Amino acid sequence: MSRINSFPEPKIDCPFEDVYAPSDDTYLIIDYFTECINENYFDGLDIKNIKKILDMGTGTGIIALFLREVTKRVINFSPQIFASDILENAIKCAKLNESSNNLEKNITFIQSDLFKSFPANLKDSFNVIIFNPPYLPSLRYNNHVQVKKGIDNSWNGGEKGFEIFVEFISQAKSFLDSSQNFYIYYISSSVANFQNIIEQIENCGFKNTILKKKHVFFEDIILNRLEK
Ligand SMILES: C[S@@+](CC[C@H](N)C(=O)[O-])C[C@H]1O[C@@H](n2cnc3c(N)ncnc32)[C@H](O)[C@@H]1O
Repeated sequence: MSRINSFPEPKIDCPFEDVYAPSDDTYLIIDYFTECINENYFDGLDIKNIKKILDMGTGTGIIALFLREVTKRVINFSPQIFASDILENAIKCAKLNESSNNLEKNITFIQSDLFKSFPANLKDSFNVIIFNPPYLPSLRYNNHVQVKKGIDNSWNGGEKGFEIFVEFISQAKSFLDSSQNFYIYYISSSVANFQNIIEQIENCGFKNTILKKKHVFFEDIILNRLEK
């Protein structure tokens, strides 16, 4: 069984001021996928059973494009890939990057506030969802942010930092294919105390596993995985 040893790194441009340029949290996810995908398994899930993947909050599109590159190298890995973002410019940016990497028309883009504009036929369908969400508490950084503008969407996770993520989980439940195991990968930060909400999420029937941590400046960023 061979691993994907070469890193199929898409070329990423970020010409929009309000779109999040890939950073340490982005690469925590990509590096983990590089380690855990092989010809038979996607992090332990049978790779043939992965039919739909969603990159929520895609930004430049880097994670969706990375996964699309993987599909070109792993024969049994042929999921439909979806990428969504609340920002129109993020969708434009991700489409530009799709085109500059010669991957046109392979990813379905949806501009949406979480799942609000998703078509009903995507319910019960995703095997894997990735969300590197805005995860910093607005109370700590800016008491006055009432209406989020552009780039605020990249970092402002709500007053305590996890409100967007909690809303994401409550909406995601009906879009997961629960006929088999599924994974939600997400980033959290030591600055917002996600520990408080992990218990609530586990009470809803999810199991949370911490996969990787990295200390960056003032915080630990943490890659987590939720499953049934
Ligand atoms: C930390 S950035 C991550 C971007 C990219 N996935 C990456 O890892 O480089 C968070 C992304 O979530 C998007 N976002 C924030 N709130 C959202 C919402 N309610 N619905 C969809 N996307 C949202 C932001 O616009 C931003 O692109």
